[in-house]
Amino acid sequence: MQWDRARVLVTGGAGFLGSNLCLALAARGAKVAALDGFLFGGGANPANLEGSDVTLVREDIREVDLRTLCEGADVIFNLAAQTSHMGGQRDPLADIAVNAVAQVRLIQAAREAAPNAVVVHASTRQFYGRPIRLPVDETHPVAPPDANGVSKFAGEQYWMIEHRTAGRPVVSLRLTNCYGPRLRIRDARQTFLGIWIRCVLEGRPFEVWGGSQLRDMTYVDDVTDAFLRAASTPECYGHVYNLGGAPPASLTEIAEMTVAACPGASFTTREFPQDRAAIDIGSYHADDTAFRAATGWNAATPLAEGIARTLEWYRPRLAAYL
Ligand SMILES: NC(=O)c1ccc[n+]([C@@H]2O[C@H](COP(=O)([O-])OP(=O)(O)OC[C@H]3O[C@@H](n4cnc5c(N)ncnc54)[C@H](O)[C@@H]3O)[C@@H](O)[C@H]2O)c1
Repeated sequence: MQWDRARVLVTGGAGFLGSNLCLALAARGAKVAALDGFLFGGGANPANLEGSDVTLVREDIREVDLRTLCEGADVIFNLAAQTSHMGGQRDPLADIAVNAVAQVRLIQAAREAAPNAVVVHASTRQFYGRPIRLPVDETHPVAPPDANGVSKFAGEQYWMIEHRTAGRPVVSLRLTNCYGPRLRIRDARQTFLGIWIRCVLEGRPFEVWGGSQLRDMTYVDDVTDAFLRAASTPECYGHVYNLGGAPPASLTEIAEMTVAACPGASFTTREFPQDRAAIDIGSYHADDTAFRAATGWNAATPLAEGIARTLEWYRPRLAAYL
């Protein structure tokens, strides 16, 4: 892909992963439009795109004229989503409206206005549910533990149908826990690490729920790299891929790395809360051999280094993210 000539639409472009991707694309000379409705509780933050050449379209994907937005796009990175698991449980209809119904709207608009655009869809490991084997590859059974898992699976599958029936080049990346600059850190709505970072930088102890669960965290620069490679690798079109990250570490180990990166920081451990235990997936780590083989991608950032870099990034910017 010649990014300096590309016109790109990024849905969810003011959020955590979307904004990092927009900035990387703009740095490569692409003409980037970011669609974001700044949904309550999500990762959108005006500071995420401040000072960049990215055109922000502050509209809701459920209502905006998507045909006009898609017109002339060479690539669509599709990251807009209702991402809260508890939120999806509380209001499954709102969850479906963004993660499934709006996806069908976008598919129909893109069919008319950008029939040849490559689409890279942000999917999730969530719908595998509680793994029956580790590491989890793409043949692992799908058993969503919550409403959000159902809607995200539906959204992905509508896109894969579009590949099979209309021939659109589509790649879906099933992401694991991602972290790094521009993550929502105000509260615990966007991964446990967000609120840990806030507590550490405010000089307060953070809480680890459980502690033995394994996670393969992906640093955001590696996620961005994966999205760019997926779009640029025709061999990937028509496929879903798991994307892992650093070698699996327990939550306690991740907490220890966080503390080590910030002298004086500390944490306490408590039992996993009852209301979340019902939808918890336990330990997870991905087998992402297929994506690595297809693209040469590698989760290059060691976890301890990624955590330290993230803390340093937030330190002077904390106020804008609280
Ligand atoms: N961050 C992770 O660890 C992770 C893990 C698995 C999957 N994903 C997927 O990656 C994508 C990006 O996630 P993220 O972590 O950057 O979350 P995020 O909340 O920071 O980004 C999602 C963005 O979508 C926007 N959005 C939501 N509903 C919208 C609507 N109706 N109209 C317009 N914009 C809307 C939000 O305002 C937000 O900025 C999502 O599709 C998510 O499911 C992320």
